[in-house]
Amino acid sequence: MSNCNWGIMATGKIAETFAKAINYTDGAKLYAAASRTEEKAKAFGEKYKAEKYYGSYRQLAEDENVDVIYIASPMAQHYENAKMCLLAGKNVLCEKTITLNSAQLDELIAIAKEKDLFFMEAMWMKMLPAFRKAKEWVSSGKIGEVRAVKADLTSMCRYDENDRLFRKDLGGGALLDIGVYPITFACEFLGYQPKEIISNCVIGKSDVDFDASMLLRYENGYADLCAAFNMDNCNPAYIIGTKGSIRFPEWFFCTGRVLLYDDDGNIVEESNDPHPCNGYEFEVAHVMSCLEKGLKESDLNPLWHTKATMKIMEKCRADWGFSYNGE
Ligand SMILES: NC(=O)c1ccc[n+]([C@@H]2O[C@H](COP(=O)([O-])OP(=O)(O)OC[C@H]3O[C@@H](n4cnc5c(N)ncnc54)[C@H](OP(=O)(O)O)[C@@H]3O)[C@@H](O)[C@H]2O)c1
Repeated sequence: MSNCNWGIMATGKIAETFAKAINYTDGAKLYAAASRTEEKAKAFGEKYKAEKYYGSYRQLAEDENVDVIYIASPMAQHYENAKMCLLAGKNVLCEKTITLNSAQLDELIAIAKEKDLFFMEAMWMKMLPAFRKAKEWVSSGKIGEVRAVKADLTSMCRYDENDRLFRKDLGGGALLDIGVYPITFACEFLGYQPKEIISNCVIGKSDVDFDASMLLRYENGYADLCAAFNMDNCNPAYIIGTKGSIRFPEWFFCTGRVLLYDDDGNIVEESNDPHPCNGYEFEVAHVMSCLEKGLKESDLNPLWHTKATMKIMEKCRADWGFSYNGE
């Protein structure tokens, strides 16, 4: 879609990154930004050259010139923010994890369908060239049948009781904040319906999971996954097949580098596509292309994928006896 008017709801860290990607992408315009306060909205709007800024989220949702709203609030706010946007007739790209649970997600999907609107979780990994390359290698049979996936997403985050990562009331915790990536990664290569889910976690002092480890069992293979706020790693990922393997050497989807190995362990192909902006430009362009085609769901990240990963996370949380406020 050319000349797409984007609205950004919330002005935190990822909103800044996304604003840069919008400003980088041809045909995309950062039309309006909204914050809970006028002051922050103005500062953000001026910094990223938005045409308008609003000191309330509702004003953005009700602006008739907005084509699509990117929601960048904390997890626990997504449900009410997305609901407001959809009810106001706006297409929505909502940050991950899209909601806290399936009940909230199902309600939003029903509204989006009833209103005939585009709705997608911002799983930017799926639009990145390195990830698309791995998908292409697997679907063209270069590694044979996929037997195993290993993916870690961990970092050492300094404890701060005010940071959303550690706040249960804002939907904090490693599983929902970053675990959604390795889970989605595994599902893309082994399937969205594991036969068995075995998981464990460490609940930290703010009563959210500081680390989560998951084993997904499939008929012919498994995924070994980890997400953590309390350890550093280079975050590699592997897809192991019957005829070869694929390795993301670091930050498994955030960088542009991915390697294809044969079954003797030799590198047979390497793809290295540094991101021209910050990586989010691929997601911006993808959403606009969906809108241009009149799609109501992304063809790379359809809502049934989002529902399936939510179910996996719910199963983990149920096994841990972990629930968010109000659940
Ligand atoms: N795709 C990615 O790579 C990626 C990376 C990081 C985060 N994320 C996701 O993006 C979302 C935001 O993450 P972030 O790191 O940008 O968080 P952040 O820096 O803490 O910003 C969150 C923003 O949400 C707004 N907000 C609304 N209600 C709030 C409340 N009750 N308490 C605090 N802030 C509130 C605030 O903006 P206003 O004050 O302007 O209203 C705040 O600046 C999360 O869902 C996270 O999972 C995605």
